[in-house]
Amino acid sequence: MGMKIFGVIGDPIEHSMSPAMHNDLFQYYQVDAIYHKFRVEKDQLKEAIDGIRGLKISGVNVTIPHKVNIIPYLDDIEEIAREIGAVNTVVNNKGKLVGYNTDGLGFIEALKPLIKLPLSQSKILLIGAGGAARAIYFTLAYTGVKDIDICNRTKETADYLIQHCKYNANSNSLSIPEAENCLEKYDIIINTTSVGMHPNIDKSPLSLKNIKLDTLVSDIIYNPLLSTFLKDAKNKGATVQNGVGMFVYQGALAFEKWTGISPDTKRMENIVLDKLGGNTIC
Ligand code: ATR
Repeated sequence: MGMKIFGVIGDPIEHSMSPAMHNDLFQYYQVDAIYHKFRVEKDQLKEAIDGIRGLKISGVNVTIPHKVNIIPYLDDIEEIAREIGAVNTVVNNKGKLVGYNTDGLGFIEALKPLIKLPLSQSKILLIGAGGAARAIYFTLAYTGVKDIDICNRTKETADYLIQHCKYNANSNSLSIPEAENCLEKYDIIINTTSVGMHPNIDKSPLSLKNIKLDTLVSDIIYNPLLSTFLKDAKNKGATVQNGVGMFVYQGALAFEKWTGISPDTKRMENIVLDKLGGNTIC
């Protein structure tokens, strides 16, 4: 058995932090493997998947714009990834390509060390109803969390998400102003939108004026590390978390599927923060 090859497929891919993170782990755990970034254009996905098979690449991460479109080309999809309708991790199991989604579970694993109440007893508000919200919402509901409301600029999209979740959560959809008026109800508030991401760093998806003191406020954005949304939360005395944790844990769960090793996430976080230190404008 020679050196195994892993990678990430996407476009653009130049600034992906996954190669640094996984190559460090392969070295640290003495796994004979290497992780490459592969720029795969939107209309070349089929050829890329054939390449994975033909070259016996052992596994890949999948990012924009392929997470949804890759599904028909895979041999098997785990249940939660099928429900989410997106794959971020592929395992080549002796020629059979199996798709997983570790984004939602990665988010939850990253959040766990900071929660005050068990998630099953927490009242959660999700902001946004796009792809990232879908992964987080479905995975929370899948793991048995019941109290999750969704607010979105377009309220109907939040309704759609709630209606299409096959796992039982007690969810209401809210407009942004409706949510702003009842924020004291929530123990955990999560921004899943890109509002506030570089270069629009002064924007925030919603006003946190009405949160209670011990709220946990999480933003999946990591550029900047401290978004305006998190800054506002901090000023209100909330505990805050940025998107580095989710990125690290989605990678850790992928690494575990490929190698069976549950990696040192602190080590991964240091690599990511080191990378972000260079190009984060905040
Ligand atoms: P992703 O896949 O990264 O989640 P997406 O599917 O494009 O991205 O979803 C973007 C989410 O951010 C949506 O909930 C979107 O709200 P709409 O459904 O109303 O479009 C939200 N969003 C994006 N830009 C926004 C903005 N400027 N203000 C408020 N919400 C915004």
